[in-house]
Amino acid sequence: MESIRSVSVLGCGLMGSGIAEVCLLAGLPTVVREVSDSRVDRGRGRIERSLEKAVSKGKITADERDEALGRLTMTVDLEPLATADLIIEAIVEHLEEKRKTFKAVEGVARKRAIYASNTSSLTLTQLAVASGRPERFVGLHFFNPVPVMRLVEVVRTLLTDPEVVDLCTDFTHKLGKEPIHCGDTSGFIVNRLLVPYLLDAIRALESGVGTVDDIDRGMQLGCGHPMGPFTLLDFVGLDTTYYIANIMFEEYRERRFAPPPLLKQMVQAGRLGRKSGHGFYEYPEA
Ligand code: CAA
Ligand code: NAD
Repeated sequence: MESIRSVSVLGCGLMGSGIAEVCLLAGLPTVVREVSDSRVDRGRGRIERSLEKAVSKGKITADERDEALGRLTMTVDLEPLATADLIIEAIVEHLEEKRKTFKAVEGVARKRAIYASNTSSLTLTQLAVASGRPERFVGLHFFNPVPVMRLVEVVRTLLTDPEVVDLCTDFTHKLGKEPIHCGDTSGFIVNRLLVPYLLDAIRALESGVGTVDDIDRGMQLGCGHPMGPFTLLDFVGLDTTYYIANIMFEEYRERRFAPPPLLKQMVQAGRLGRKSGHGFYEYPEA
């Protein structure tokens, strides 16, 4: 394989829809798989709305939007994945779900296809080995919102073929992203630093250090962060943050990765952040 010319994305939630969008805009035919027709409709809606926003802001033309959408195939089946050079998984942050999904994909994927996971916190070796093609397995960790954030962490395991890392590095450039490279440790580079910070903000709230608004404004106005920690937690999704914290705590056994009780209770209460209309803040438009 000389370069990556076609892509499949598994999952079309917050991240999968963004990853699909940047692939489409880079001119790559992209097949997106979701689990049900209603999820397909929701995912397509996310991509269409985001492209529409780009047109209204003058970032792309209406023709470019139409061409991008013309390269998109949405499906609930596995067979359409058979044409992809690169299959990027962006489903729920759950080891067994991801393992099961890669096993199923192995039944249809091209022999030379590369598998990538967008996992935030799972170590890749366990997924790579279960996939049946560990030498063609990498991490491609995109950041939210994908159309805006320039970074992609390109993660190799002990078993990854260096040629696959090179192909994926070129791919991130083709998407207009900046890659950084790292080895297979839970949370890679960014989440290893970011996740304890977000969890500490919740612990500070639990201890009565300040209100949600004061803590957010403190980090925005005092440190120049574009979003305070609670706005960012709502943005990432409290369910996803909870899964990430559990996985990182399990891996490192350090208190700084432990999910605070308030985070668990908010997830149990269905307060998942922007995606559910209510997290640390309320989002009546969701
Ligand atoms: N999709 C596409 N474009 C978007 C967007 C979205 N969801 N949200 C914002 N944008 C674009 C806007 O169109 C705008 O572009 P222009 O300036 O060209 O018009 C630009 O981003 C800035 O947007 P806004 O002016 O509306 O809003 P803002 O200035 O408040 O910026 C933000 C929004 C870029 C999201 C900014 O608040 C930010 O950088 N927040 C921090 C995000 C962050 O930390 N992400 C990492 C999360 S952690 C993670 O991803 C890893 C993990 O594993 C959990
Ligand atoms: P999300 O809940 O918004 O979307 C997940 C989607 O995957 C859902 O639409 C679900 O229907 C779908 N799905 C579940 N099982 C599937 C399967 N077998 N095949 C196809 N689709 C399936 O979650 P998200 O925030 O997009 O996170 C997805 C992945 O990206 C996770 O691994 C997460 O850790 C990682 N990630 C998230 C963020 C973030 O800020 N939310 C940032 C970077 C990485």
